[in-house]
Amino acid sequence: MKPINFQEEMKLCKTIQWFQPKTLAAVFGLSCLLLLYFLASNYSYTFENIDDWDNIQDDNFTVVDETWLCFSSAKILHRAENLRRGVPKDSICRLRVPKSIYYEIDGDIRVDGDSSSIFWINSQGNESLKAKPFPRNCDPTIMKDMKEFSVKSFPHQNESVPQCTSNHSYPAILFTYGGYTANFFHDFTDLLIPLFLTAHRYHGEVQFLITNMNPSWVERYSTVLKNLTRYEIIDIDKVGHSNINCYKSMTIGLYAHGEFAIDPLMPPLGYTFSNFTDFMRRSFSLERYMLRKHDKSPPRKPKLLLITRRWNRKLINFNETATMATDLGFQVILMEGGDEPLDKFAQIANSCDVIAGVHGSALSYMVFLPQNAVVIQIIPWGRLEGVCWCNFAFTVPKAKLKYLEYQASLDESTLLNKYPRDHRYIQDPFSVHMEGWYVYSKVYMQEQDVILDLQRFRGTLVEALEHVKQFQ
Ligand SMILES: *[C@@H]1O[C@H](CO)[C@@H](O)[C@H](O)[C@H]1NC(C)=O
Ligand SMILES: *[C@@H]1O[C@H](CO)[C@@H](O)[C@H](O)[C@H]1NC(C)=O
Ligand SMILES: *[C@@H]1O[C@H](CO)[C@@H](O)[C@H](O)[C@H]1NC(C)=O
Ligand SMILES: *[C@@H]1O[C@H](CO)[C@@H](O)[C@H](O)[C@H]1NC(C)=O
Ligand SMILES: *[C@@H]1O[C@H](CO)[C@@H](O)[C@H](O)[C@H]1NC(C)=O
Ligand SMILES: *[C@@H]1O[C@H](CO)[C@@H](O)[C@H](O)[C@H]1NC(C)=O
Ligand SMILES: *[C@@H]1O[C@H](CO)[C@@H](O)[C@H](O)[C@H]1NC(C)=O
Repeated sequence: MKPINFQEEMKLCKTIQWFQPKTLAAVFGLSCLLLLYFLASNYSYTFENIDDWDNIQDDNFTVVDETWLCFSSAKILHRAENLRRGVPKDSICRLRVPKSIYYEIDGDIRVDGDSSSIFWINSQGNESLKAKPFPRNCDPTIMKDMKEFSVKSFPHQNESVPQCTSNHSYPAILFTYGGYTANFFHDFTDLLIPLFLTAHRYHGEVQFLITNMNPSWVERYSTVLKNLTRYEIIDIDKVGHSNINCYKSMTIGLYAHGEFAIDPLMPPLGYTFSNFTDFMRRSFSLERYMLRKHDKSPPRKPKLLLITRRWNRKLINFNETATMATDLGFQVILMEGGDEPLDKFAQIANSCDVIAGVHGSALSYMVFLPQNAVVIQIIPWGRLEGVCWCNFAFTVPKAKLKYLEYQASLDESTLLNKYPRDHRYIQDPFSVHMEGWYVYSKVYMQEQDVILDLQRFRGTLVEALEHVKQFQ
């Protein structure tokens, strides 16, 4: 069994791209402040929440091979590596994993969707590149089937450059629908958060060009999309041969910082995850911005949104869990999670004070919670901390929410109904992790459900309740 070589994985990413060029000019080495900023920040960056994981002592740390995609968890791995070798604490966290490569061009830009070509008249006129505008660059499996766009520059108009049929005064953003999207978590991490980062600064004065567009996805997220663009969303594959859309400025691809994460040190600079949750609350016109004391009105029962899940990592004893929470004083709302009507469930989530669920995409509903609310992540048994922390734990406090965690024990796992106690999956999850994401996710993410130990989980609910009560 080959242990995962973290350094090698990082190099793989590095060879793809270390930084996102602000302009094509930057690609060709012209000076660009942003580029310099990046070069500088690669070497000076330290993880702001270091305390969050400073207490990790376990040198059997989950090694998650796919997480080199994910900035925060790359640091977790790095941390684990260093703990193993006894490296001093301050030698960690010097890496950035570029989730996305994007290009920004200005000038006379003509988009021919039919041939997936972008013609760009600029003074140099000798540059060209190919781009797959989807923000999962370190994920070759996903990227290989994505449509590629070519950008060619010309010093001046000639017969090779098509005539504009529509001139637009506002900029365009070109991106791909696809990958793992249609999973609620990936809708956020791969498209909605990157779109927010890329488009928000235009205050609606921007047009989206989508390739491989899925109209039902656009419909599902229309509330969000309409708040980012005032203009019609163009299915760029269907514009037809004779339609050439022209712009003065364009972003090809999306800004993306990490898995379900926003880093204020990366472009567009200064955005935080709570800016994103503010934006979500505003877009859906949600009533509660934060939990706060209402001295006059009588305190209402705190609301718990309990995610039951339908296919895997199900919460088997959700009824008993709900009964216990009710006895503790919660009003409980059960939700399967993930594909509920969004506008309605955004309202429901916002009315809640606590959201609790086994690790999974429905925890993304946290983006609708009022600030100070609590997110309880139940981590299924099988050394899944790496992926669970990477996807949610680090982000929750950045959304100005309180993070609580419950790690299920082996006795709370239905894997015991499937495998004998002496099976390797039960005895040595660490070795299963070493075989990579496809192997361990099948066993620990897909085959297992959770039967909560109510006595123990009660403690976590009480902690959540006490936190929420401060604001009543
Ligand atoms: C690491 O795992 C081994 C075998 O699974 C176990 O014996 C050991 O106690 C673990 N170490 C820690 C720090 O958990
Ligand atoms: C484009 O032309 C400029 C000047 O004519 C030259 O310096 C540059 O190297 C060329 N770039 C490419 C990619 O050929
Ligand atoms: C148009 O300009 C490009 C770049 O200068 C050149 O390669 C191409 O041959 C020209 N096409 C025609 C039809 O003149
Ligand atoms: C678009 O603008 C260009 C120059 O800016 C002009 O030549 C062309 O006629 C315009 N096309 C349309 C369809 O308005
Ligand atoms: C987004 O929604 C908010 C609240 O409804 C509104 O104030 C803002 O103007 C909207 N922005 C755009 C670009 O539509
Ligand atoms: C992000 O949030 C901070 C703090 O609330 C605020 O000062 C800043 O203006 C926000 N940025 C944007 C782009 O909304
Ligand atoms: C949960 O409780 C409800 C109401 O008591 C009942 O109808 C339902 O069958 C229960 N579901 C399970 C899975 O036990």
